[in-house]
Amino acid sequence: MELFVGSEHSETYQKYRPTYPPAMYDFIAEYCKTGTGSLGSAVDVGCGTGLSTLPMCKYFQSVIGTDVIETQINTAQTTHRQSNLSFCTSKAESFAFLSDCSVDLVTVAQAMHWIEQEPFYREVKRILRPGGSLVVYGYGIGTLDNSDADKIIDKASLTGEVYIDSLFLVFTNIYQEQS
Ligand SMILES: C[S@@+](CC[C@H](N)C(=O)[O-])C[C@H]1O[C@@H](n2cnc3c(N)ncnc32)[C@H](O)[C@@H]1O
Repeated sequence: MELFVGSEHSETYQKYRPTYPPAMYDFIAEYCKTGTGSLGSAVDVGCGTGLSTLPMCKYFQSVIGTDVIETQINTAQTTHRQSNLSFCTSKAESFAFLSDCSVDLVTVAQAMHWIEQEPFYREVKRILRPGGSLVVYGYGIGTLDNSDADKIIDKASLTGEVYIDSLFLVFTNIYQEQS
């Protein structure tokens, strides 16, 4: 987690991390609408510097980005200014500032591997409105033309020895509460 601490890191993160395809946010918004029938509020958990949060402002009345690292949130706040967007320093395992059944969509972009899953899912179930959605997405792992090298990369990425990402996007999970 120290990986994300420090304003210098956050500024570099904001400058060089890849963004996500706009078509993907069209898809997420459409999907969300099938659940609650409205695009009222969305929460982007582990939002970092807001690269995954800002695109949702086009669709939702209110968007909140949350991250456990204060410097990430500070950079998000100074970089992205929209009337329907706010950021908050908060752990993914507790959303004390959000009331029950208040959110249409929770997203986690490239951050699920950092989050303690049981308390997180409990909180997601609490804050989602009936029919609300949880969408977890991120980058896929790149492959090479060399199967031996791929095996090493797979092992390293699974054990966390090396952190590798690419621009290939995969949805790792999509979930919708029963309405
Ligand atoms: C790889 S970054 C992804 C940032 C952003 N979602 C994006 O796609 O650019 C992962 C983020 O998760 C945050 N994070 C890690 N553990 C967390 C936790 N338990 N609660 C909230 N945020 C967390 C880190 O501080 C970091 O900013």
